[in-house]
Amino acid sequence: MIIKKLGIKNFRNYSDSELEFNSNKILFIGKNAQGKTNLLESVFYLSALDSFRAKTDSELIKWGESFCSIKADIIKHDVDINLEVIINPPSKKKLKVNGLNKNKFSDFISNISAVCFTSNDLLLLRGAPEDRRKWLDLAICQVFPAYNEKLSKYNKVRIQKNNCLKNLKGSINSDSSLLDVFNEQLAITGSNLIFIRLNFLFELLKIAKNKHALISENENLSITYNSSVIDEIHLEEKFNFNNEFILKKFKDKLEEKKFEEIIRGQAVIGPHRDDISFFINSVDSKKFASQGQQRTIVLSLKLAELQFIKDKINTNAILLLDDVLAELDDLRQNFLLDAIGNETQTIITSVDTLHFKDDYLKDVEIFEIKDNIILKKDHF
Ligand SMILES: Nc1ncnc2c1ncn2[C@@H]1O[C@H](COP(=O)(O)OP(=O)(O)OP(=O)(O)O)[C@@H](O)[C@H]1O
Ligand SMILES: [Mg+2]
Repeated sequence: MIIKKLGIKNFRNYSDSELEFNSNKILFIGKNAQGKTNLLESVFYLSALDSFRAKTDSELIKWGESFCSIKADIIKHDVDINLEVIINPPSKKKLKVNGLNKNKFSDFISNISAVCFTSNDLLLLRGAPEDRRKWLDLAICQVFPAYNEKLSKYNKVRIQKNNCLKNLKGSINSDSSLLDVFNEQLAITGSNLIFIRLNFLFELLKIAKNKHALISENENLSITYNSSVIDEIHLEEKFNFNNEFILKKFKDKLEEKKFEEIIRGQAVIGPHRDDISFFINSVDSKKFASQGQQRTIVLSLKLAELQFIKDKINTNAILLLDDVLAELDDLRQNFLLDAIGNETQTIITSVDTLHFKDDYLKDVEIFEIKDNIILKKDHF
């Protein structure tokens, strides 16, 4: 799939900008803080209805304005698709596909897939569990759009449960029948999320392992899912979990933790507390991997995401590379650029063109960003 046009209004530092893309290789250049990442963020938002960095939608709206919108013309499987989202909190965001309103997020995001690779991702392993959960959830949405609704549903129940726990005011003698109702719903929605995450990681690891072995000259990558509900799950082994098994474990654990949750006044178990660990040759890479080894893991994961999407939906996702080439050495840069090939539309941000080989720059379309204005460059 490719994006042909992008239009943003009141998005971050932009008032009203329209861009037309005529190449599979697009480069945004500009000094720091000009709005390069903001542009990638707008494209990615269409693919997940979530930002890879903002905590709330309101952050995306230009300061002093009340709404923002993102529009794009996409070509997917030779079909033109027009997408538009209007963000106007506290109202629900408005979604349109080819001018028709859509209520379900999945009906919107199923039209476009993107993989975003930022220099921040290179810190994924050492970052907070929250960052790893966010990466995982956004990656799953690209291949399984309905996951987005399942996640929202779970989070809604979790917030209701937390309110209920607060109302109990730490008293284990209060009537907890409402809590039991929320726990039942939390277990149903939450076990399904865990099941989907495990399935996704299992499939992703198969692809990432090969990429990782190639880049690292045969080191072995493995992943464990550290669940607050069923402890550690090694994704190396044959995948033999089913939803019912996880649901049963979830319910048992909720029962076990009920008093603790009442006393602490918050939900302490569930996929919102889970984490992922990465191992190289069975050694925990969070603690022991060198910076280069960590980069190789993240690069393998990103390449695996791209491949996974291609296998699943039979078209290339749009690749968004935010300032990441400058952070990779020659070997890893070449792996990345070779893996992308000519078919994947790639939008790259960079401060300048120094990190690109002449060969890459041959058919690239360059836009320069300065003082909130985006200008197409005819020469570089
Ligand atoms: N909601 C908003 N309204 C107006 N301006 C915003 C908003 N959010 C962010 N900005 C501005 O956008 C700019 C940052 O944009 P962005 O992160 O895209 O920069 P960048 O070009 O990627 O920079 P760098 O090279 O440092 O990564 C900042 O100057 C920030 O003040
Ligand atoms: Mg940036």
